[in-house]
Amino acid sequence: MTTGLTGGGILQQPELLQELIPALRSVISGSFSVKLRSGYADPQQIFTLLPLFETAGVDFLVLHPRTVVQEYEGRADHTVTARVVQETGIPVIANGDVRTATEGLQLLEQTRAAGLMLGRGAIADPLLFTRLRQRTVAQPDRSERAAMLRFYLTGLLERYQRIFCGEQQILGKVKSVFACMDDPAFARQIKGLKKAVAIRKFQELLASLS
Ligand SMILES: Cc1cc2nc3c(=O)[nH]c(=O)nc-3n(C[C@H](O)[C@H](O)[C@H](O)COP(=O)(O)O)c2cc1C
Repeated sequence: MTTGLTGGGILQQPELLQELIPALRSVISGSFSVKLRSGYADPQQIFTLLPLFETAGVDFLVLHPRTVVQEYEGRADHTVTARVVQETGIPVIANGDVRTATEGLQLLEQTRAAGLMLGRGAIADPLLFTRLRQRTVAQPDRSERAAMLRFYLTGLLERYQRIFCGEQQILGKVKSVFACMDDPAFARQIKGLKKAVAIRKFQELLASLS
């Protein structure tokens, strides 16, 4: 949780936003968006800020409807997103807990949001954007998911080897994506990959992932 006035912490002193948002707007010639949580501790706080965003000329909002205090606990409350969409003319991008294309499309329908922002869901499945655009299957079967994981993790490993040094650092960076992966069907394989302390071993395990 942010303790100071950075990030969502600034919602502890919303009067600062009255100055900050118009000042930023006046110097940003391109599109100016605000990404925020629903509030610091109160999930209704966002409604008190909408008039400011409107009069300042914010182009669009990205809403992650959890409070700052909540961190990642519970579920994102997209009933708040739907109400924000209803109450403001500013386009709203819905963010939070979209893990599958089906969930994302339902969320768009339920909230009437102008779009989606993906975080952890896209780290777990980079094809989620393509799935949402309905250019590939909504949900991969086991063999497709296995092939995707092999391709994705091999690619990450190759790229991280180019920009980081030392097996532990490189593997640590690759393994960080597992924090976003919740694949019960591959739990055993992911556990094995997490335990690998050598790149060679990681590659062997990856090659046999099926
Ligand atoms: C690895 C990671 C890095 C993030 N970095 C930022 C950031 O720099 N700024 C920000 O506003 N949110 C950041 N977030 C929060 C996400 O943008 C998003 O609001 C949140 O994870 C909820 O969406 P999700 O359920 O799709 O992950 C980050 C999230 C993750 C997982």
